[in-house]
Amino acid sequence: MIEERGIKLDIKPDAKRKARVFYNVDSIIARDIAEAAFAVFAKKQYNVADAMAGSAIRTMRYARHCNANFFINDNNPKAIEVIKQNLIINNLNLDNFTITKSDVREFFAKNRVAFDFVDLDCFGSAMPFIDILSFALRRNSYVSLIVTDVAALCGNSPKACRRKYFAKPLYNSFKFETGLRILLASLCYDFARNEFAFFPMLSYYYKHFYHVIAKLKKSRRLADEQIRKIKFLNFCKNCLTREYSTMPKEFCVCGEKLQHAYPVWTENFFDKGFVSKVYSKALELKFSEAAALLSLISEENINIPFYTTSEFAKKLKKEMPKVDELIKKLQKKGFRAVRTHFSKEGFRTDAKPEEIATFF
Ligand SMILES: C[S@@+](CC[C@H](N)C(=O)[O-])C[C@H]1O[C@@H](n2cnc3c(N)ncnc32)[C@H](O)[C@@H]1O
Ligand SMILES: [Zn+2]
Repeated sequence: MIEERGIKLDIKPDAKRKARVFYNVDSIIARDIAEAAFAVFAKKQYNVADAMAGSAIRTMRYARHCNANFFINDNNPKAIEVIKQNLIINNLNLDNFTITKSDVREFFAKNRVAFDFVDLDCFGSAMPFIDILSFALRRNSYVSLIVTDVAALCGNSPKACRRKYFAKPLYNSFKFETGLRILLASLCYDFARNEFAFFPMLSYYYKHFYHVIAKLKKSRRLADEQIRKIKFLNFCKNCLTREYSTMPKEFCVCGEKLQHAYPVWTENFFDKGFVSKVYSKALELKFSEAAALLSLISEENINIPFYTTSEFAKKLKKEMPKVDELIKKLQKKGFRAVRTHFSKEGFRTDAKPEEIATFF
């Protein structure tokens, strides 16, 4: 028996010493953030789907904030046994939960209610499920998506990125940010195809996954507006310029041939007001690591991808300054400058690379 944030889980290994259902300690932070977010937006009578539920830890965490209608699904028969057992040992009434053993696509296609909130915690990519997920959503709804195909998104495997996301990644110092922006662009397109406008409310990268909490609104006009936020990202490996453009540029002003990522989301990957509410809720719930991450994210509304102290130190053959000191110096000169959750040696600023270089 293990316990997560006061919830008991019966996920002991079976006779072959294999865990009967999936459970990952490294994802506790994502569940903390999803629970705090749910506590912010959930309303009574919400229809909530935990579509790839595993142990149903997420449903049980959500259920303590809102008396919603919970639909729990997993395609693994062992998970279904464990889910029922977990609800019982946590004194929850089985009659209040609808539990199904289906492939997630069948679950979305056959459901008889429209969901206000869907939690989709994928092994790998979420993209094969977005069309059918759209079919199961209410006109105004929320989704929480976890994807673990970080290698495809951040340029370790460009062929996989093209195949799954129709996208070209960049493998460099800010590859994890490009990966998130490709994921957001791809989600925006797929939801738009189903006439949903996609609004990323809170998204981030952590260790082995990306987590996106988004609001969806059924509207062709708004979907078209959101698509306009998708562009090319140009990167110059000589002068370290990063910039967005509606058409790809071949050469940098410094004369170097530019590298590109496409398509990428070019605006905020979060909504500041929403993140600050989730941050307060995370503090209230004593989710300290989640609160620290949310506090970093809430400042990241400079959309040019982050720089790292090491790329400038290497280029200029100078010592690497401490990130906080560099940020203070940039701010003192009137530039906007903040840390980033993507990297300990990263910083975001509206200063141009040649201006940043003067602080080394
Ligand atoms: C990453 S685990 C979910 C873990 C759980 N949400 C948590 O937070 O601990 C993914 C789950 O989805 C289930 N699964 C994988 N592919 C599926 C599919 N096509 N349809 C339905 N369930 C699926 C697996 O059995 C597994 O329990
Ligand atoms: Zn250049």
